Amino acid sequence: MQVGVGFLGAGTVGSALLHRLISESDAIAAKTGLELVVKGVAVRDLEKARGFDLPVDLLTDDLSDVVDNPDVKIVVEVMGGLEPAGPLVLAALESGKSVVTANKELVAARGDELIAAAEKSGVSLLFEAAVGGGIPIIRPLSESLAGEHITSVLGIVNGTTNFILTKMVEEGSSFDEVLAEAQALGYAEADPTADVGGGDAAAKCAILASLAFGTWVAGDQVFRSGIDGLDERDIAFALDLGYTAKLLAVAEDTPLGISVRVHPALVPVDHPLAAVRGATNAVFVSGPSIGELLFTGPGAGGEATATAVLGDVIVCAREILAGTEVRPRIRFAPGRVVDFSEAQTKWYLRLVVVDRPGVLADVAAVFGSHDVSLKSVWQEGGGESATLLLITHDAREGDLQASAEALRSLDVVSDVAAVVRVQSDEP
Ligand SMILES: NC(=O)c1ccc[n+]([C@@H]2O[C@H](COP(=O)([O-])OP(=O)(O)OC[C@H]3O[C@@H](n4cnc5c(N)ncnc54)[C@H](OP(=O)(O)O)[C@@H]3O)[C@@H](O)[C@H]2O)c1
Repeated sequence: MQVGVGFLGAGTVGSALLHRLISESDAIAAKTGLELVVKGVAVRDLEKARGFDLPVDLLTDDLSDVVDNPDVKIVVEVMGGLEPAGPLVLAALESGKSVVTANKELVAARGDELIAAAEKSGVSLLFEAAVGGGIPIIRPLSESLAGEHITSVLGIVNGTTNFILTKMVEEGSSFDEVLAEAQALGYAEADPTADVGGGDAAAKCAILASLAFGTWVAGDQVFRSGIDGLDERDIAFALDLGYTAKLLAVAEDTPLGISVRVHPALVPVDHPLAAVRGATNAVFVSGPSIGELLFTGPGAGGEATATAVLGDVIVCAREILAGTEVRPRIRFAPGRVVDFSEAQTKWYLRLVVVDRPGVLADVAAVFGSHDVSLKSVWQEGGGESATLLLITHDAREGDLQASAEALRSLDVVSDVAAVVRVQSDEP
């Protein structure tokens, strides 16, 4: 049974999948009963080598050749970005084609609109590869766990930053040194802004939150803070105190609404996320009936991501051949995304202070007046520039920020040198 598949893009992910569809078609047919036939591949540069024998008559540099081709029943969008991918995906869905995409940026920005368009046309929009690369996390959240009251999703969803932080922790190197090494090894883009600034993780966090809580959360509603401000001295101090640094994506269903954020955090060294090294991704999903589930594996890479895309293509092809009316997969109810100032976290602070009697009392009084209580305090050195390391108990982000601001104006504090959030001991 043949199903025509068209590609928008044939880069890292697209080439890996095309190679498999072409060279392993018999094995795929034997396993699934489906003959997935590539009908067209749109790229920017027709001359570029694709790393395998891709029939030239499939290639086009006109994107509409794929979207308008009546033989294409499933469009695989692996070009990335919002434009022109967004209008093309919408046009494909509106013309009755199913779409499989790996594009987290597009799903986080326009997923609600595109999912509604798919439902209206009776086709599917699937995006397993958009979060966690090769890790199955989208289908578990939207189907297997559809009946669970998910309370939180917490994870490491950006391999580039996890690679950088792992090296900073294990080798004591600075952010700039490790970033340069990651770029040389191909683990970081020439322009690393989306990764190190937290934008990529924020898009993934929005998608996970939307599916987990059934309320649409757009990428730009996620608070984000990147790892570029992290100082290797704080990573070393944190290690002495029993913590390691991670870029966390956190989505919580709180009494006030949905809390979504991406920021560096200190994680206790015995926390399961502390053991997630290098480019690996890991996501904890918690709920009252399931307790905690951990999904972990390769968060990126052409081959691993192609597996996730291929799984979605097979689901779409089965639906097309079964001729069934496609069921609504996901429904979004109205809900509130809480302002980041309401988020509750612990904090690590490094203060440079004058070492004289009463300093600690002055610092503690500032926290006390903002409803923040201190969990632990350490002092390093003395004299005019002693270092004070503090860890607070859980407090409102707004109260913590106000405390830091007030500390900056204390005579005895010459610098609030670092402020890093601390993840609770429990996953
Ligand atoms: N790479 C990963 O590990 C990974 C993991 C998970 C998700 N993703 C997502 O998967 C998507 C693809 O990523 P990738 O790494 O495969 O990207 P990539 O290597 O940059 O490939 C992009 C492809 O799209 C084509 N393209 C881009 N703009 C085009 C335009 N305006 N007209 C025609 N063709 C255009 C490019 O053509 P040329 O080849 O001719 O330049 C290229 O073939 C992105 O949304 C990404 O976020 C990637």
